Amino acid sequence: MNIEEIRKLFPMITNNSQKKLVYFDNAATTFKPQCVIDKEVEYYTFYCANTHRGDYDIAYQADTHYDEARKIVAKFINATKKEVVFTSGDSMSLNLIAFGLIHLLKKDDEILVSVLEHASCLLPWYKVCDIVGCKIKFIEVDENGNITPENLKKAMTNKTKIVSLAHVGNVLGNVNDVKALAKIAHENNALFICDGAQSAPHMKIDVKELDVDFFTFSGHKCYGPTGIGVLYGKYELLEKLEPYQLGGGMNASFDMCGNVKYLYPPEKFEAGTQNIAGAIGLARALEFLLDIGMDNIYQYENELKKYCVSKMKELDNVELYNSNTPTGIVAFNIKGVFAQDGASLFNRYGICVRSGEHCAKLIHNFLGVDQTIRASFCFYNTKEEIDYFIEICKKGGDFLDAFFA
Ligand SMILES: Cc1ncc(COP(=O)(O)O)c(C=O)c1O
Repeated sequence: MNIEEIRKLFPMITNNSQKKLVYFDNAATTFKPQCVIDKEVEYYTFYCANTHRGDYDIAYQADTHYDEARKIVAKFINATKKEVVFTSGDSMSLNLIAFGLIHLLKKDDEILVSVLEHASCLLPWYKVCDIVGCKIKFIEVDENGNITPENLKKAMTNKTKIVSLAHVGNVLGNVNDVKALAKIAHENNALFICDGAQSAPHMKIDVKELDVDFFTFSGHKCYGPTGIGVLYGKYELLEKLEPYQLGGGMNASFDMCGNVKYLYPPEKFEAGTQNIAGAIGLARALEFLLDIGMDNIYQYENELKKYCVSKMKELDNVELYNSNTPTGIVAFNIKGVFAQDGASLFNRYGICVRSGEHCAKLIHNFLGVDQTIRASFCFYNTKEEIDYFIEICKKGGDFLDAFFA
């Protein structure tokens, strides 16, 4: 498939082809291909029944599709089906891990994170520390925003129980060497939790090869529906993890004395009616990605990033913060212009970018600035779109004229 063929599969692109719409906010969420929309509609149109509950044909069909969806997710990350829990999104997955591990933590245990983490990878641990009395420690970040094995080693002590880091940073698009970091965590008997929100949509993920204990991501950043996400955990760890939501569909039995026997993972973590359509839609999105090829996606987005950076370096009114990172995220500011005003200027010309702290509110400790503009590319973006974006960047030097033009 060439880029034009790919773009035709996304109604948000084809339906908006009359007006200028350049979508560079793919790190926030992605457009959905028609096949994903069709798949969700298929559930609501042809076999809209609850899972695990009905003794009739369409309930059986819903069960089969939901189960198949889990298999496809497992294949996408090279896990087994029983290691894949459906959640509402990456944030829920990370919360589920943190609160599910509370009973294994004790006062003064240490949890290692970095200042570049998204709030969802940090705040659950803050709360756990409040409850248990353990401590958050920040690992030093190198000049590209990465955690080096050396810096992780320096931060580890015999009290470190958890290392929780993003695979790909959502502000800088840096890629951590997760395999090396997980190995160090394991040598020190700590667990390694990998927030894959920004990696799963853009590169091949093999949880066995990375040897992470937990891996999380959101469907909506992977061209799938909102309200669905994934928690992968090594099975023996899922067995130890406590469920933090209880209800129907996750228990084997309970009695009047308060005794509850849980089902085995992954059902143990899926209380209540699940986002069935979301799971089925997500699986379709992941099949779509596999068809395009994750290595092709990574390479194409890396090309876009390099192209954009080379053009931006020619501009003297732009401050770039992450020229060297390999994924499709460009973090920058227009000199002398507040980031949100910059984003409004781009919007004035039909370009969607994000401004602010990007939910990583400790980022100023690393960058020295509070706010950045983030342009994030994906495989349906083009160099022509980047050329247009560069023209608008140039106008930013004369911000007020450009804004009111
Ligand atoms: C690195 C990272 N972690 C976690 C999240 C949270 O994802 P969600 O809002 O889909 O739960 C995001 C979302 O931007 C992210 O970029």
